[in-house]
Amino acid sequence: MAQQIDLNPRPVAASFVEMDEIVQPSDLNIYGSIFGGYLMSLMDKAGGISAFKHCGVNVVTVSVDRLVFKNPAPAGTVLSVKASVNRAFHTSMEVGVLVTGLKPGERQETTLCSAYITYVAIGADGRPVPVPPSLPETPEQRRRYAEAELRRSARLALDERLAAQQ
Ligand SMILES: CC(C)(COP(=O)(O)OP(=O)(O)OC[C@H]1O[C@@H](n2cnc3c(N)ncnc32)[C@H](O)[C@@H]1OP(=O)(O)O)[C@@H](O)C(=O)NCCC(=O)NCCS
Repeated sequence: MAQQIDLNPRPVAASFVEMDEIVQPSDLNIYGSIFGGYLMSLMDKAGGISAFKHCGVNVVTVSVDRLVFKNPAPAGTVLSVKASVNRAFHTSMEVGVLVTGLKPGERQETTLCSAYITYVAIGADGRPVPVPPSLPETPEQRRRYAEAELRRSARLALDERLAAQQ
């Protein structure tokens, strides 16, 4: 059955996702801190749920921008993965994802990783379908909304320059 898309604008807050996880010994790299690929998987999961909450139909990951690992974390760290839609475009949505961690014995969370992940809404035929506009309501949400357009414009400009060189 075809999925129905409600194209009425949706507030950014409606796409907010927070997932908690604990870092297990099997999630570590050979240096004894959290494996980056494990963190990326959690971020893609939270980001995909956020995009789905915004548009209400299946989404696929199309690109990841500015993935930054800021700090390592050992086993026993309690992770908090937060995601929300920064901006919806036509069929795509930029989702901001931030991972913080409460390390064993510490009382304050540390920023571990952040990224901007773009998802595309997909219809029953596997092709992109339009998504509702996103409505930023707070100063922070409005800042992220404006910055998402800058990132998109910069990417498109770079794509054009690279294509012109071929
Ligand atoms: C996502 C997919 C359907 C898009 O197909 P496409 O032919 O590029 O479609 P379009 O050119 O119409 O672009 C669709 C949207 O994707 C965006 N997009 C395409 N490439 C992009 C990129 N590299 N970075 C950011 N956005 C991108 C376009 O800007 C467009 O957004 P808009 O409608 O909001 O302007 C196709 O690339 C795909 O199936 N990719 C594989 C997805 C996947 O398997 N992910 C991993 C598992 S979830």
